[in-house]
Amino acid sequence: MSILSLYMRVLGLLGREKYLALVLALANLALATAQFAEPVLFGRIIDRLSGAQGGGQPLTYGDLAPLLAAWAGFALFSIPAGVLVALYADRLAHRRRLAVTALYFEHVLHLPLSFHSQVHSGRLLKIMLEGAGGMSGLWLSFFRENCASLAALVILLPLSLALNWRLAVLLIALVAVFGVLTNFVLRRTEALQQTVERYNSSLAEQASDALGNVPVIQSFTRIDLEANALRRIIDLVLAAQMPVLTWWAIAGVGARASATLTLLAIFLLGTWLNLHGLATVGEIVMFMNFATMLIARLEQVVGFFNSLFMQAPKLKDFFDVLDAEPQVADSPFAVDPGRLQGRVAFDHVTFSYDGRRHAVSDVSFEAAPGETVALVGATGSGKSTTLGLLHRVFDPIHGRVLIDGFDIRDLTLASLRRNIGVVFQEPMLFARSIEENLRVGRPDASADDIRAALELAQAEAFVARQSDGLATIVGERGRALSGGERQRIAIARALLKNPPILIFDEATSALDAATERELQAALETATRGRTTFVIAHRLATIRAADRIIVFDHGEIVENGTFNDLIAKNGRFADLARAQFMVGPSASAKEAT
Ligand SMILES: Nc1ncnc2c1ncn2[C@@H]1O[C@H](COP(=O)(O)OP(=O)(O)OP(=O)(O)O)[C@@H](O)[C@H]1O
Ligand SMILES: [Mg+2]
Repeated sequence: MSILSLYMRVLGLLGREKYLALVLALANLALATAQFAEPVLFGRIIDRLSGAQGGGQPLTYGDLAPLLAAWAGFALFSIPAGVLVALYADRLAHRRRLAVTALYFEHVLHLPLSFHSQVHSGRLLKIMLEGAGGMSGLWLSFFRENCASLAALVILLPLSLALNWRLAVLLIALVAVFGVLTNFVLRRTEALQQTVERYNSSLAEQASDALGNVPVIQSFTRIDLEANALRRIIDLVLAAQMPVLTWWAIAGVGARASATLTLLAIFLLGTWLNLHGLATVGEIVMFMNFATMLIARLEQVVGFFNSLFMQAPKLKDFFDVLDAEPQVADSPFAVDPGRLQGRVAFDHVTFSYDGRRHAVSDVSFEAAPGETVALVGATGSGKSTTLGLLHRVFDPIHGRVLIDGFDIRDLTLASLRRNIGVVFQEPMLFARSIEENLRVGRPDASADDIRAALELAQAEAFVARQSDGLATIVGERGRALSGGERQRIAIARALLKNPPILIFDEATSALDAATERELQAALETATRGRTTFVIAHRLATIRAADRIIVFDHGEIVENGTFNDLIAKNGRFADLARAQFMVGPSASAKEAT
């Protein structure tokens, strides 16, 4: 994306406020015109005065009245335009900055987990804050000065040709010098500035990654190492930034020098033209004023290109995220089926994270409404991935997933996910109160509903023990709770949602055997009438299932009841022996 198209896109994001933006742009144009008129009128007045002096004709205020009136008119005219710009440019910039921040935030939340597993949250946050901040700065400077400056250059400069083309050529030459200089520096530093921004993003990522893992850093005595790693990135940022700063300093000095030379040239050429009767004294004064004004404008424009260019990589990052498509999205024909019954079918489903290795391949199975299905298999065998496909964390590359006969891609995402309650393998909690964490799936739940969900999840007692009860803040990712407590809050959260389909991904792995047994009993009631998928390694959990599906390297190798599979003495029996340390005959006996 070129700098210009990037800038156009930034202006385009003014979106809904485009009419206000247009009014502000017109006000800027008016201000530029008024500013241009001033030296013209001043020059004309001087010509009248010097003409009167030379010709000996006495001059009255009456003769100057039209010029003076026009001058006063332009001055008065620029007041409302100035007020308009002063009052509304800032408001517009602030409003749009926050609107764009919200737009980005919502978009990022829609992006698939495959995106989030690749891009660090610290980087995303930095891109959001700096991108929106950078844009706000550009809008503000556009309406405060750049719009008027550009108008002055593009429209009014050619007009000066009509006043005295010989002097105007000098001004145009000055603009050309500025243009060449800026362009040269831009080309020199563009790649460097991109490097700077890449390092800046790494800085944000590294810092946020470290802050998210303070316990590890302290326990592994890595404080110095982490601080040094950050300092190394800072050195890289500075090393890349310095040459850019040097180039822009050179450009600034060059621009200032050529401006002074132009003023001198206008004066010399003007005097020569005057001596040869080709320019009046008024025109010399007029062009000196023009040049001064123009130089101020040009310096603004150079400053603007400088800041636009410094922001460009940030803006590019921002738009790259904004352009990332949610791979999983509602099809235009998606329907909302209301509450589903929970008949689930996987039909030859294959999925790959990286497009090379299949994480799940050719998986087919069915689950009747109300059935409890356990997924077992070695670590990394594709259990979590299979259940992720059920609530459309990602879509299969082959095959389809059906619920109640609907291909889930034909359902709206919101309706699909409303029908499925998930307890993730990592019980991710918000740094909010326990109650807010519970309510995420059902904001309007009553106090009784919450109590019932906590009771089912065996969490009532420990919540009551917390200093603030339900209002206790659980810390970032729930760190203020124990692992087992976090898991039980996550279970209560899924149950409170009251969906027809439940997914428990190692939901009870952090619980002691006694608590797990109690929870198991409670969950049997809670999951009655719901299609339930459990991933678990413990025998007790698996035995409670109606059916067991055994995964190996992404494929289903066995599918049947506990007793069937033990009797078959195949993969599950092996797993059972290895994992539960019981012989096949012993577990078969235990199962009966
Ligand atoms: N976000 C991801 N990006 C890339 N590969 C992934 C991702 N998540 C999982 N995988 C890979 O896909 C394969 C299946 O992973 P999955 O999480 O489904 O295993 P699992 O059976 O749930 O294992 P566990 O019992 O350890 O939870 C693994 O090889 C894993 O490395
Ligand atoms: Mg898993």
